[in-house]
Amino acid sequence: MDNRPIGVFDSGLGGLTAVKELEQALPQESVVYFGDTGRVPYGTRGRDTIRRYAAQDMAFLMKQDVKAVLAACGTVSSTAGDIGQALPVPYFDVIGPAARAAAARTQNKKIGVIGTSATIHSDAYRKALLKLDYQIQVYSQPCPLFVPLVENAFVSPQEEVTRLVAQRYLGPIREAGVDTLILGCTHYPIISATIGSVMGRSVALIDPGKEAALALAGRLREKDMLCGPGSPRQAAFYVTDEPESFTSVAELFLGHSIQGRTQRIDMENT
Ligand code: DGL
Repeated sequence: MDNRPIGVFDSGLGGLTAVKELEQALPQESVVYFGDTGRVPYGTRGRDTIRRYAAQDMAFLMKQDVKAVLAACGTVSSTAGDIGQALPVPYFDVIGPAARAAAARTQNKKIGVIGTSATIHSDAYRKALLKLDYQIQVYSQPCPLFVPLVENAFVSPQEEVTRLVAQRYLGPIREAGVDTLILGCTHYPIISATIGSVMGRSVALIDPGKEAALALAGRLREKDMLCGPGSPRQAAFYVTDEPESFTSVAELFLGHSIQGRTQRIDMENT
């Protein structure tokens, strides 16, 4: 039994896709969320910068005395996994769980992967998929404009600008005939309605934050690391820029209020 919170982090809002799943799968667990909204996006930056940010983010969560860390960020997962593996608590990322879910789901062995430029160029998803089944054909596409659209709340399926960008990015992958699409950046499930309508109903969308949260839940259960009965559930959200915009999109996405639970921190002085 372990009553400490689970730590989840991302460059911004995307990791909430994992938090939402954790709230459903493990409703009694406490969660500390860190979103580096002051430095988002990570996915257009160089490898060294992403690794430095990732190390700082993980160090912040360790200071919150978390019992496990979930990198709910495709960019960090594909670029800084070794830093996470060296933590003194169990570390989870999104690549393996999402690749396993996609490989199990595809019928025609044609899988699309979309993500940030850093994630797509790392080739981490392609390698993970081919390790699971060398016959899988992978069609990849970086979609860098999706992250600022989500961070700036252009998330409703009615947003024309988001639909146009999606059509432009996803056209070639749809034409390739994929039957499964990994939303390889955790921001993307927040606009899954738009992505789904562009890809068509027959294409299965894989949500890496959700898959990683389920993997983490299973492992904590196995290792007897869930909290004990009656321990009070707490949720705390830390961001590195003004909390207002984060809070409003977060509430829309999570479906409940997080008023009074979001705090701005200064990475230089933590
Ligand atoms: N949500 C993140 C990811 O999964 C990062 C997006 C970004 O900061 O560029 O890649």
